[in-house]
Amino acid sequence: MKPVSVRVPAKVNLQLGVGPLRDDGYHDLVNVFHAVSLFDEVTAEPADALRIAVEAAPGSRVAIDGVPTDDGNLAARAARLVAERLGVRPGVALRIRKAIPVAGGMAGGSADAAAALLACARLWDDPAAPVLAQSDLLELGAALGSDVPFALLGGTAVGTGRGERLAPAAARGTFHWVFATADGGLSTPAVYAECDRLRAERGGDVPWPEASAELMAALAAGDAKALGAALTNDLQPAALALRPSLRAALDAGRALGAIGALVSGSGPTCAFLAETAEHAADLAGALDRAGVAAQTLAAYGPVPGATVI
Ligand code: C5P
Repeated sequence: MKPVSVRVPAKVNLQLGVGPLRDDGYHDLVNVFHAVSLFDEVTAEPADALRIAVEAAPGSRVAIDGVPTDDGNLAARAARLVAERLGVRPGVALRIRKAIPVAGGMAGGSADAAAALLACARLWDDPAAPVLAQSDLLELGAALGSDVPFALLGGTAVGTGRGERLAPAAARGTFHWVFATADGGLSTPAVYAECDRLRAERGGDVPWPEASAELMAALAAGDAKALGAALTNDLQPAALALRPSLRAALDAGRALGAIGALVSGSGPTCAFLAETAEHAADLAGALDRAGVAAQTLAAYGPVPGATVI
């Protein structure tokens, strides 16, 4: 059996509408996912037991300390799930090459799990009569985490439920982004909990989230300026409360000409929309010089989901 390598993208949330807290500890969402051209690569190779190695991708300055190499890594759990489903031993060495910021609000851990699902299925399933269809992988992905199915699908999609129920969105053209990373991650459960706390403090009912008509129209038209004006993230106040320095990064991006600026998912990475690829490169340079980010990364979207390479 030859090693299988899978390339998998990061995501940014164009709209993250967070509904009331459910009894199961999750929130109902309207989550407009957009896959962008920052990629992790996961290689699966037959081995005597399940092993995980994590490294920064060549040329990437992503900080990988803190990424677990045991069952705490979602990719390990993905490999076990596929092995269980196919009735094989989970003997696989997974090498994860990271370029997606860790605990950055760009679903890097979910991306690695999606890549591991696809790589292990390719390694162990019967190519002539596969047991696992794409729909099975999406279902296994949903069991692993709310953002895992989207990393398999890629493109631009609207997630509902806890984010795992996906419908592709009509989107035209390419959008150009700059991502400003921060030192140290934010814990997703902590950001949701802070969101609940801020809402309780404010009082009143939490409205049911609805997809933004302006955002969906901007996507369908490929209109970057309208998209920039329609970006929203209900977790942003909570991320800013937990990491006040992000406000300076968002303000700097806007002042430097970004046509949209928001915290990506649960943060702390901030996302800035640019008008063109050149504008994104200029904006990345200007944000670097402003000293408001640990690192700036230019990228574009949408891009496909997890793909065998
Ligand atoms: O699904 P996942 O394990 O990625 O979610 C991580 C955490 O994020 C959950 O434990 C929960 O605290 C929060 N979450 C949520 N509502 C969602 C998705 C995630 O509250 N729809």
